[in-house]
Amino acid sequence: MKKYTAAIIGTGRIGFSLGFDKKREKPASHTMALLENKAIKLVAGCDTFEDSLNQWKRYVSRFNRDVKTYSSAEQFLKAQKYDIIVIAVNEDSHLDTALQAIAAQPRLIILEKPVALNTADGDKITQAAEKYGVPVLVNHERRFSEDYKIAKAYIDSGMLGKVMCVNARLDSGLRVYTKEEEATGAYSLLHDGTHLVDIVMFLLEKDSGEKEVLKKMVITNITRDEEKPDVVRNVTAHFESDKCPDVNVSISGRSRYFGFEVDIIGTEGRIKIGNGIFDFTHRQQSKLYTGFYSLESDKKIRRPKKTRYFSNMIQNAVDFLDGKSELKSNLQTGMNTLTVLQEIKRQLAE
Ligand SMILES: NC(=O)c1ccc[n+]([C@@H]2O[C@H](COP(=O)([O-])OP(=O)(O)OC[C@H]3O[C@@H](n4cnc5c(N)ncnc54)[C@H](O)[C@@H]3O)[C@@H](O)[C@H]2O)c1
Repeated sequence: MKKYTAAIIGTGRIGFSLGFDKKREKPASHTMALLENKAIKLVAGCDTFEDSLNQWKRYVSRFNRDVKTYSSAEQFLKAQKYDIIVIAVNEDSHLDTALQAIAAQPRLIILEKPVALNTADGDKITQAAEKYGVPVLVNHERRFSEDYKIAKAYIDSGMLGKVMCVNARLDSGLRVYTKEEEATGAYSLLHDGTHLVDIVMFLLEKDSGEKEVLKKMVITNITRDEEKPDVVRNVTAHFESDKCPDVNVSISGRSRYFGFEVDIIGTEGRIKIGNGIFDFTHRQQSKLYTGFYSLESDKKIRRPKKTRYFSNMIQNAVDFLDGKSELKSNLQTGMNTLTVLQEIKRQLAE
């Protein structure tokens, strides 16, 4: 079997430490997912935060005694060429790190979501990737998750009939948006909103290589903080897609829990899917009224025991390098998502 060398910039939570979370499905970080894949050899790590890098080295040395560590991306990129570079740095470092890594011309970059803080930065990454001919896989993880793949196949097979309405909802305690945090990305519209919008795009898209044209977006509800009106606490945006005339994305930053759900309503059935939610119903003769049809649980659809969201993503990278598959989440899909977020931000600023 051909082995690919992999290296990682950013050995923080998603890069490394979330892999130790006892409740998360494993593997739960890039490091653990790379180490688990037999076609990959993890050879180096880089982080500006010494403690995190040292802990990372101690752990990875158990699998590769020669693993190298670097405290700057420059040294890391100069030291050797890698087949795969994972970029798992904070949002405000995506642009610089991605441009440096792309210029080093690895065979593939895995870039954490969102592509960048805004579409202007995202365009720069896209142009550099084109110039240097470097493919980029964007880790919008739900695209790789078996439960969402079942939902997409259900929609694409026509089981839902015509999709009439999609309601997607994210609830957290983090502010939805404030211009003050534009430079850090520390607001939920970007931080987790990117996952919500991306999975809606995935469920409704025809082809992952296509540029989606955003149609008729309007904000239908905004709630602002009473004391700081610049801070958005709730937002609902409505737009149309080729597959569905009524897409609604709602994000709340006032909740004392984390909720993530998508409700897809078709002429023949309905899917509710999200964190801890997997519910497929289909039109059947009603148990309540003679001569009527109602929605009953679709017994043919089984919830997968494991979603394999991380291992499937890394396997997609390997299959792509082996020439067996296209990238299932790429710069185009990532930019389609960022374009939706950018338009919501633009309208919030009006
Ligand atoms: N896919 C997911 O579900 C998921 C989950 C969490 C985070 N993320 C994304 O992953 C990225 C990282 O988030 P996190 O929660 O792991 O953050 P984190 O702060 O825990 O880790 C980021 C690490 O990057 C390092 N870093 C920052 N700039 C650097 C640079 N220029 N060179 C080298 N190292 C640098 C930091 O020192 C830190 O250790 C963000 O884009 C975030 O949105 C994705």
